[in-house]
Parts: sequence; C-alpha cells; structure tokens
Amino acid sequence: APRYPRYTREEVGRHRLPQDRVWVTHGTEVFDVTDFVELHPGGADKILLAAGGALEPFWALYAVHSQPHVLELLREYKVGEL
Ligand code: HEM
Repeated sequence: APRYPRYTREEVGRHRLPQDRVWVTHGTEVFDVTDFVELHPGGADKILLAAGGALEPFWALYAVHSQPHVLELLREYKVGEL
C-alpha cells in the first residue's frame, strides 16, 4: 500500500481557498480537491463550504454522496493522512 505524508487538522485548515489549494478530510484521510471544485455537480460554492475541514457534517446533509462512485472519485485526490 502507498504511504502518505501525515498532516494535522491545523495544516488542513490552511487550505480553504483555491489560491492556497483546497483540502478536505474524510475519516483520517486528507484530499486536495482543488482540481475538482469547478467540476463538482453540486457547485463550487457548496464544496468550498467544507474547505479546510471535514466532509462528514456536509455529506450527512446531502445523502447523494452515500454512493460508492463518490468515494472512488474522492480517492483519486488523496494526498495524505491525519
Ligand atoms: C453532488 C462529490 C462536497 C453538495 C455530488 C456528486 C458528486 C459529488 C460526485 C454527484 C453525485 C451523483 O449525482 O451521483 C463531492 C465531493 C465533495 C463534495 C468529492 C468533496 C470533496 C460537497 C459539499 C456539499 C455538497 C461540502 C454541500 C455543502 C452536493 C449537492 C449535490 C452534490 C447538493 C447534488 C447536486 C445535484 O444533483 O443537483 N457531489 N461533493 N457536496 N453535492 Fe457534492
């Protein structure tokens, strides 16, 4: 299995804007989704609400994400672990 760099939640929190790269967490995994922001079916504004933090509170509200293909897509953007 590939090994990824470790980041703190504070470091993830510095990535809230496209010019700083947009990072999110899911479980203990860290993703750089900058290149997906403009491709998001729910809109760039919505995905940026989770920028710099955890996806879970938002995905709990939008069950459209509870499908295998969404996690498969997310996996492609993985850059690290908490
Ligand atoms: C739809 C991915 C974050 C709100 C979708 C879909 C994907 C996706 C693949 C289409 C699913 C389908 O129709 O089968 C992601 C990823 C995210 C993310 C990878 C983070 C990295 C968010 C956040 C919100 C959100 C934070 C809300 C604050 C929505 C909404 C839709 C949607 C409302 C439905 C759009 C529609 O069909 O009209 N998302 N999403 N998403 N997402 Fe996200």
